[in-house]
Amino acid sequence: MKHSLLALAIVALSAPSFAADSNVEINPPAQGSVTQAQGLQAWARVYEVASHPRCSNCHTGESDRPMWSGPSYGKTRPHGMNIRAGASRMGVETVACQTCHSTSEHTQDTNHAAPRVDMAWRLAPVEADWFGKSSHEICEQLRDPATNGDRTIMQLAEHLDHDLILHWAWNPGPGREAAPYSLQEHINDLLAWGAADTPCPEPESK
Ligand code: HEC
Ligand code: HEC
Repeated sequence: MKHSLLALAIVALSAPSFAADSNVEINPPAQGSVTQAQGLQAWARVYEVASHPRCSNCHTGESDRPMWSGPSYGKTRPHGMNIRAGASRMGVETVACQTCHSTSEHTQDTNHAAPRVDMAWRLAPVEADWFGKSSHEICEQLRDPATNGDRTIMQLAEHLDHDLILHWAWNPGPGREAAPYSLQEHINDLLAWGAADTPCPEPESK
């Protein structure tokens, strides 16, 4: 994510909390202004992101094991060193994620270093289980408040912007492939899908 220093300074002065890290705009299209077909196309791109290793490696559901998958890992396998997230999803029962994924100003600067972000690194909630799931399945999960953290689509978009893990996924350091599109495009697609009343593809499509 590239900021001009000036933009950073303005954002930092005008808004507290995570906004200093953000140059994303949240502009939902008017409800109903996006056709079903356009909504499905937007969803297909949202799915490309959600199912990308930079996202799905942490969205592993009932298994409390983060995954190592994607080009930089060779074959898909559970996180090495027998890491378990436990009920806390943060590994506090065994080895805390932050032992290695430390909250830190430093970005990871060598291949295969543990990713670091300036917020607590942890596994996604059980209901947000996306790993290996189809487009239809993740679509149903993401539009249902019971499995999306009790959020409207607008709140999901705001969450994506505020979550620094997400900013990492588009700027993951050397050796790792970034999530496709950009955070801004992902948020635009999510909002377009929402404005089309969250259409989902048929169960068999992947
Ligand atoms: C002992 C150190 C250590 C601990 C503890 C640890 N990790 Fe990791 N983790 C790593 C390293 C090192 C990598 C990068 C490996 C590589 O790139 O080959 C990594 C990579 C990951 C990845 C893959 C990121 C990506 O997309 O490339 C996820 C997801 C992950 N860890 C989640 C967790 C979670 C969740 C916890 C706590 C439950 C945790 N880790 C605890 C060292 C650790
Ligand atoms: C380091 C692990 C990790 C990675 C990597 C990760 N997430 Fe998450 N995700 C989480 C956690 C933890 C939550 C719960 C946060 C909350 O509800 O405040 C979450 C929640 C979400 C939610 C809210 C919906 C729900 O069911 O809770 C969305 C949407 C989401 N993530 C999208 C993504 C996308 C898109 C990516 C990749 C660009 C991604 N995540 C990568 C850990 C991760």
